[in-house]
Amino acid sequence: MTQQSNTQDLSKSLVGQAAVQYIEENMLIGLGTGSTATFMLQALAQRIEQGLHIKGAVPSSQTTHDLAQRLGIPLTDLATYPELDLYIDGADEIDPQLNLLKGAGGALVREKIVATAAHRFIVIADSSKLVERLISRFPLPVEVIPFASTPARKHLEHLGASVTLRQHANTTFLTDNHNIILDCTFPHGFDDLKDLNVQIKNIVGVVETGLFLHMAERALIGNPTGVQQILPADTHQG
Ligand code: A5P
Repeated sequence: MTQQSNTQDLSKSLVGQAAVQYIEENMLIGLGTGSTATFMLQALAQRIEQGLHIKGAVPSSQTTHDLAQRLGIPLTDLATYPELDLYIDGADEIDPQLNLLKGAGGALVREKIVATAAHRFIVIADSSKLVERLISRFPLPVEVIPFASTPARKHLEHLGASVTLRQHANTTFLTDNHNIILDCTFPHGFDDLKDLNVQIKNIVGVVETGLFLHMAERALIGNPTGVQQILPADTHQG
């Protein structure tokens, strides 16, 4: 393990522990997906072992479901509890307004469903995820029904996107919902995040995008020395 990944893991572990301090007795929790969320799940399992009781947790992916089950976190679903108290998840990019880019792990649709079901959303990350503008380091993932793959791609290109079909182990990546992901970059830029999101969501066959706009109430950002809390900047954009 490199020194950088050691440092990142320490930061992720610290934010994971800080995030679970927001979980109170009898809450319904949404569980995010990814390496930072994994640290949070471990910290939650520890609190449960120490006596915390939660009503249940809804996982945002099969991977998180399996991990939570192994860790002994009591699971439930949105059919039983369509409203949750708190969702905690990582992100690939976080802008000053706490708009998020998510989906590098491919779980964006369920993540957005669980995040939307929750009254509160806390995003957790190490400081490498902070950016001035979204879609600057990661492409924008767009989950698409396979039947619509080619027409959806053409529409995305029309919006100025350079599109790559996500692959995994030399084959087409399929999400937990059996859909494909079209990763989009915008070499000529774009004007407005909100407009872009609306235009992409208007394409028939698109299920969701990885843009989570104005959803997170706060970010907990980890550094090897501690955790910083960030609230959305006043100027709302996108
Ligand atoms: C999963 O699809 C993503 O949205 C993750 O939440 C995001 O990629 C953050 O993952 P890491 O915590 O592993 O960086």
